[in-house]
Amino acid sequence: MQFPKVRLRRLRHSEGLRRLIRETHLSVDHFVMPLFVVEGKGVRRPIASLPGHFHLSVDELVKEAMEVRHLGIPAILLFGVPDRKDPQGSGAYAKEGLIQRAVRAIKEEMQDLVVATDVCLCAYTSHGHCGIVEEGPGNEFWVHNDKTLDVLAKTALSQAEAGSDLVCPSDMMDGRVGAIRKALDEGGFSHLPIMSYSCKYASSLYGPFREAAHSAPSFGDRTTYQMDPANAQEAIREMRQDLEEGADILMVKPALPYLDILSRAKREFGVPLAAYQVSGEFAMVKSAAQTGTLDEDKVKLELLLSIKRAGADILITYFAKEIAQLLQEEARKTGQRREQEAKPALSVKGTPLKVKG
Ligand code: PBG
Ligand code: ZN
Repeated sequence: MQFPKVRLRRLRHSEGLRRLIRETHLSVDHFVMPLFVVEGKGVRRPIASLPGHFHLSVDELVKEAMEVRHLGIPAILLFGVPDRKDPQGSGAYAKEGLIQRAVRAIKEEMQDLVVATDVCLCAYTSHGHCGIVEEGPGNEFWVHNDKTLDVLAKTALSQAEAGSDLVCPSDMMDGRVGAIRKALDEGGFSHLPIMSYSCKYASSLYGPFREAAHSAPSFGDRTTYQMDPANAQEAIREMRQDLEEGADILMVKPALPYLDILSRAKREFGVPLAAYQVSGEFAMVKSAAQTGTLDEDKVKLELLLSIKRAGADILITYFAKEIAQLLQEEARKTGQRREQEAKPALSVKGTPLKVKG
């Protein structure tokens, strides 16, 4: 069908019509708020690389989690930033480890908030890699895949025992979802879901997070386990493999530069799909807003809407709290405006002429 019969602008003529045909909506229901926990008591230290975010000791974390819950956000994703590290990352699976204590403390106060836990070793290893480092087939050091699997499985199980509602492996070892699923099932947690960072790219957008989590690798980089940003077909293979190993939710990370992957994954698998808008994506918006280059509120809504439109069901974002507040505010303002407009319409005959774009 052709112009002039077809005029797509007809359905953009008023806000009411635009509302009727709007395809994508942001709702607080789909947000996950990442939080960072540290040792100590009464600690609430601003994280320089993530404006508006804090290093929180367990007691402060509980308060923060309550606030998140109060805003209607259904889930948090916890990252531990421990004081002590060792080559094996043993703090990741300690019964009295930082995350384990944090999860127990939150669950004691709130049962209905979904507490998701990151399963990885990089914040717990002295070398900062996501797995066990050994001398490889050449003379160089490498991350040993299968030895790492055991540690990851132990870590996930210890988090489950502490009360985690959703374990989220982010290490990118082969076979980790299967290893974790097996450990959970054997440990009596066959009901516990896994959200897998299925295609996690070796991105340059993790910088602010690594500063926050003190998890930058002390040598080399993560290109032998995280994915090459050039690859899309491989992402589909990663996701298919995770599903076969028992993943319940797949994730694409980062989000905005990988909308094509989100869109393909949604069509290909039709399973719950998460997108992680990472620290660098957050930082870019924050710094552009600071210099007055961009309207922060409008930009963050647009970016998250785009990620959702591309196929993400779940949005993990450092903007979660801010967006929840923004959505509340917008709903309140819209309500007020409708009320105000409705009143004069009852007493005045005829509607005033409005200028339209
Ligand atoms: C650790 C991990 C990283 C992120 C989440 N889990 C960083 C990395 O791989 O170095 C990045 C999150 C972000 O940048 O917001 N495996
Ligand atoms: Zn890691």
